[in-house]
Amino acid sequence: MRVTVIGRGNVGGGLARLWRAAGHEVQELGRDGGDATGAEAVLLAVPGDRIPDALGSVRGLQGVPVIDATNATRGRPEGFASLAEYVASLTGGPVAKAFNTNFASIYDRLGEATSRPSMVFAADEGAREVTERLIADAGYEPVDAGDLGSARAVEDFLAVIFAVSRAGLGPFFYRFGPPDRL
Ligand SMILES: NC(=O)c1ccc[n+]([C@@H]2O[C@H](COP(=O)([O-])OP(=O)(O)OC[C@H]3O[C@@H](n4cnc5c(N)ncnc54)[C@H](OP(=O)(O)O)[C@@H]3O)[C@@H](O)[C@H]2O)c1
Repeated sequence: MRVTVIGRGNVGGGLARLWRAAGHEVQELGRDGGDATGAEAVLLAVPGDRIPDALGSVRGLQGVPVIDATNATRGRPEGFASLAEYVASLTGGPVAKAFNTNFASIYDRLGEATSRPSMVFAADEGAREVTERLIADAGYEPVDAGDLGSARAVEDFLAVIFAVSRAGLGPFFYRFGPPDRL
């Protein structure tokens, strides 16, 4: 798959490495922006308050599914329940919320897990398939939280993740599953 990553930090740079290792063609864009024409998926991994600048400097986003990995640690613009819905209002295309509740600092330890760690996501129908594939190809098991109306719940889940980490576990993987598969 051709993937454009916007933001080359812990999340964007880390996922670019994982996806290249899985055989994807990944273009990484930074503050200078660029052209995403031809991309089958875009990952947005910038600080939450940089979303409009980051999207505004990238051409060729029309109709491309955007996977929003941002967190609202710096708040949300008024009138939007979630950052993902804000992203959708800027791109007009299908959007997914994913990768925001999984620690980038342990991407390189995915291979140590004895069973595949989970990743909760929410997605518009037009972004669901590429999101599930890119979650799986990064090394996680996608856990569907519903359509983009659930994006706020997925963003708020970060509070639990941070609380558990701060209480002593540090960066961790988690796993959701039915009783016979855990
Ligand atoms: N770290 C995690 O474990 C983690 C996990 C899940 C989600 N998140 C979320 O993912 C987002 C990125 O986190 P991160 O840890 O990857 O942050 P980071 O390491 O600080 O990287 C952010 C990147 O965004 C770039 N950037 C800033 N403004 C930009 C713009 N206008 N256009 C394009 N790129 C721009 C920065 O470029 P410069 O280097 O030039 O500043 C930097 O490369 C945040 O919203 C964060 O809350 C983080």
